[in-house]
Amino acid sequence: MKILVLGSGGREHAIGKKLLEDYHSIHLYFYPGNGGTSIIGKNIENYHSALDLGFFAKKNAIDITIVGSETFLLEGVVDIFQNLGLKIVGPHYLAAKLEGNRIFAKSFMKKYGIPTPKYEVFSCYEKAFNFLKRNTNPVAIKANGIAAGKGVFLAHNKNDAIKALKNIMIKKKFGESGNQIIIEEFLQGKEVSIISIFNGKNIIPFLSARDYKKIGENEKGLNTGGMGAIVPNPYMKNSIWTDFKKNILEPTLEGLILEKLTFFGFLYFGLMITYEKIYLLEYNTRIGDPEAQTLFPLMKSNFLNIIQSFFKQKEIFIDWKKLCSCCVVLSSRGYPEKYEIGKIIAGLNSLKEPFYIAGAKKEQEKWITSSGRVLNIVGIGNSIQEARKKAYDQVKKIQFDNLYFRKDIGL
Ligand code: GLY
Repeated sequence: MKILVLGSGGREHAIGKKLLEDYHSIHLYFYPGNGGTSIIGKNIENYHSALDLGFFAKKNAIDITIVGSETFLLEGVVDIFQNLGLKIVGPHYLAAKLEGNRIFAKSFMKKYGIPTPKYEVFSCYEKAFNFLKRNTNPVAIKANGIAAGKGVFLAHNKNDAIKALKNIMIKKKFGESGNQIIIEEFLQGKEVSIISIFNGKNIIPFLSARDYKKIGENEKGLNTGGMGAIVPNPYMKNSIWTDFKKNILEPTLEGLILEKLTFFGFLYFGLMITYEKIYLLEYNTRIGDPEAQTLFPLMKSNFLNIIQSFFKQKEIFIDWKKLCSCCVVLSSRGYPEKYEIGKIIAGLNSLKEPFYIAGAKKEQEKWITSSGRVLNIVGIGNSIQEARKKAYDQVKKIQFDNLYFRKDIGL
């Protein structure tokens, strides 16, 4: 069995480690991969397009490809692979727009009556500026396209709102992703990530997670790809699950089927629990990062069997360990803005599993940093407190210049 995983983060390392744990004999390939994936499989190089990757997969008889990162989805990798007769896990291009185009996603939510914050769409800077000048409430300003999780700004006052608007629409901080924006009602509440697997007929949710998106403690500062996560999310009580299933999951399933947006892959619900109910903020059409690193250590079921169940048109069941997990992301100081790389990482060899490499590579027997998010360290326990303690005990073993991590994950 040969499996290709697309992406280069801790998530892809976690997918690879889970597959290998369940089936020692599989051969893993990653594109582009990272220092961690090069140890458990082969990182392939020098592919310039999704079509090139498809030819690679065909030539090398790859049995299944799993798409980790959204960038491949929005290049239409699933459509291309399927046209080449290859098996691939992920949404086709049109369904990936649920993540890649916020306006498309919000219209879908509106059409199917899914509770979501009120919003306005703007393509013109002046109109957005005038709207913000008149507005007195806190807002969320969001670039329409993908921006590696960083294109969302929460503004509590006019100055912050206008600064965010300028960054997105004038300074083009996220390139063309900021040609259109959404200004959304700001909801106060608790965020929840529910990742699920969609087999075209059913959406099967994973355990609930909480992602810590901000760079600073107490959710202060800029948005990042994610600085840590915990599973399960303590705010996801039974009554909230019922509300989520009835008002968000079921109408989503109905909409996906009616709009012919069915696919085999992952669907991520980015949610907000307020004091009155649960709202859907966004869809992603992949597993979250660092949610993947926090979820996979708790997955009892064999992940490859789950994937094969789909291709054999069998029902999918997922069994979970009744434990909690906490993942702390170690990053380069300065991320998500400017940061230095090439720092020697000490202590990696003394880490106990589970841990995952994100932006690090091995050069002449030394591990060095190669990106903003460097390493993910996970603790598992009977409670979030125990899991958190185990994760932070391991974090103490790692050192590199400019190391930064949040100290409040799971607190
Ligand atoms: N952790 C958030 C994301 O993967 O988009």
